[in-house]
Amino acid sequence: MNVTDSYDRAIEAVLFTREEIEAAIGRLAQQIAADHRGQPLVLLGVLKGALHVVTDLARAIARIPDGPSEIFVDYLCVSSYGNAVRSSGEVRLLKDASEPLAGRHVVVVEDIIDNGLTLAYLRSLLGERRPAGLRTCVLFDKPYHRVVDVPVDYLGLQSPNAFVVGYGLDYQELFRNLPYLAQLRDETFKESHP
Ligand code: IMP
Repeated sequence: MNVTDSYDRAIEAVLFTREEIEAAIGRLAQQIAADHRGQPLVLLGVLKGALHVVTDLARAIARIPDGPSEIFVDYLCVSSYGNAVRSSGEVRLLKDASEPLAGRHVVVVEDIIDNGLTLAYLRSLLGERRPAGLRTCVLFDKPYHRVVDVPVDYLGLQSPNAFVVGYGLDYQELFRNLPYLAQLRDETFKESHP
């Protein structure tokens, strides 16, 4: 059995195809480019989930005429879920941004927002560094279990109220490489949490 076969067996349904995700990234890129015309822009991806979003977004913004004057890509890494499907509510910074953010126009790029704690933590942490602008971009929204009201400036697609994987999102570090967003079969959870 190869990777594709085992992934096929684990997946219940494709929620957003590669094409739908590409179109959403295109719309986000247009909005971000319009708000940062002629300015140097820092896209700050939140690892690991945002690894694909940031690169695809950076390339889409670069194709837009009259967008930012320069695009910098940076990453930080936080952990909130560990290997479980429920957030611990605790956010830990595992790796910081590599460049200073003071005086710069920063867009924090997240894969998904669920209870909102990760983005709230990052807004407060990065706000203290006095960036010239601090906006947030999230590809998938799960608005069902928010515990903090955190503003999102650029929002892509609404996910159903389910645990989802693919396009950077994982379950126990698997499925990040899927080019689409998918829902896992219940059996997949049961097998790993008997
Ligand atoms: P929040 O702090 O609950 O808003 O969660 C944000 C982080 O939790 C995301 O960056 C993801 O890493 C993770 N997460 C939330 N929902 C899911 C999901 O359905 N699948 C995989 N990871 C998720």
